[in-house]
Amino acid sequence: MAKNTPQPKKDAPAGTTVSRRDFLALGAGALGLVGLLQTGGMALQFLAPRRVDGEFGGVVSAGPAESFPPGSVTEFPDGRFFLARAADGGFLAVSRRCTHLGCAVSWHAADEQFACPCHGSHFDLIGDVQNPPAPRALDTYPITVRDGALLVDTAQAQQRDSFAPEQLVYV
Ligand code: FES
Repeated sequence: MAKNTPQPKKDAPAGTTVSRRDFLALGAGALGLVGLLQTGGMALQFLAPRRVDGEFGGVVSAGPAESFPPGSVTEFPDGRFFLARAADGGFLAVSRRCTHLGCAVSWHAADEQFACPCHGSHFDLIGDVQNPPAPRALDTYPITVRDGALLVDTAQAQQRDSFAPEQLVYV
């Protein structure tokens, strides 16, 4: 038998071969693991996207549909989107994030276009590219209607290459 192999004490129950040193090492390891898991959990919680209703990342109530005339664009700065209402009455919640490199676009009512200040991309009212380098239409967010109010869920942007009529939401 090896010299360093711990031996059970004579009065210890059968099967208990863990030395005091090993027991302490196991305990320290378990405590270390608990600490690591706790720290990792806190880091994940910190890095996870915040989801607060009423602002970007959560559900934003845009108000009643009749507040928005056809052909209008209304900015919701806290939600980081524009609510666009097409001429036929359909709604789109258009992200303000340019699809080129992510700058914030702004709405220019006189030109009826979204313009990106960084590299000059332009988009029309429904977010289609009118002037590159933006490679695709502005992203959109899902719209639902509850008690007559339009609700925009900004948790997950919907990517699209270009506008399609089925993207419009009707009340
Ligand atoms: S980030 Fe908008 S055009 Fe480059």
